Amino acid sequence: MLPIQVHADKTAAARAVAAEIAGLIRSRQGSSKPVVLGLATGSTPVPVYQELIKLHRERGLSFRNVVTFNLDEYLGLGPGHLQSYRQFMQKHLFDHVDIAHSNTHVPSGLVPRDQADKHCSEYEAMIRQAGGIDLQILGLGRTGHIGFNEPPSAANTRTRVVHLDEITRRDNSLFFGDIDAVPHYAISMGVGTILDAHRIVLLAWGESKAEIVRRSLTEAPSDNCPATHLQKHRNCEYVLDHAAAGRLEAISA
Ligand code: GLP
Repeated sequence: MLPIQVHADKTAAARAVAAEIAGLIRSRQGSSKPVVLGLATGSTPVPVYQELIKLHRERGLSFRNVVTFNLDEYLGLGPGHLQSYRQFMQKHLFDHVDIAHSNTHVPSGLVPRDQADKHCSEYEAMIRQAGGIDLQILGLGRTGHIGFNEPPSAANTRTRVVHLDEITRRDNSLFFGDIDAVPHYAISMGVGTILDAHRIVLLAWGESKAEIVRRSLTEAPSDNCPATHLQKHRNCEYVLDHAAAGRLEAISA
């Protein structure tokens, strides 16, 4: 099984992940090679971003040598839309640290459909030009999605337009207040794009994630649960709280 860290609660887990990111950033200080972070949205990574902001304010952690690529963006939502993932990142991280706006990348939600394929291949090219992703943070959807790679998503998928599952739209309607306001399509890095990262850290908190955490770690890799493809990665770790690890204890017992 992939390596797993289980922490008492999400605050402790987030502190451990933020410490790893800070260590990576500090190890490159003075280097001409920036640290390239793959970032995620959703409620899960928020405590990690809060810890990073704290490290910036209280410990002088600088993001000047950091480049970021977000996993995904809703199609149809502009960067000023309150529910866009660009806004999410500004609000939860970028506006509070010293990162250059030009070093932060989120797919465009406003790209016309006939130019979306070109935009997606340019996004992939930018990641390659930056030297590839050093550390990719992931949340986990209840459908087994990573990024917005809904089932079925193959291990070799690249950044592309994806159709959102109804379960995901319902889960994410919490942020929108109304399911009809949740877009049906998004642009997402592919599973293959994610697997290219040098290191992957998947985060999951709470009982509602326990079953999909169990499936992702224990079922044979399959397009029907895209997170299972992470099992093939050589440097992927799950960081969980006790509740999200709840169904794994039965397996190891
Ligand atoms: C969205 C994001 C995913 C994220 C998922 C889980 O669908 N596109 O990257 O992992 O939500 O959301 P949450 O962290 O709120 O449970």
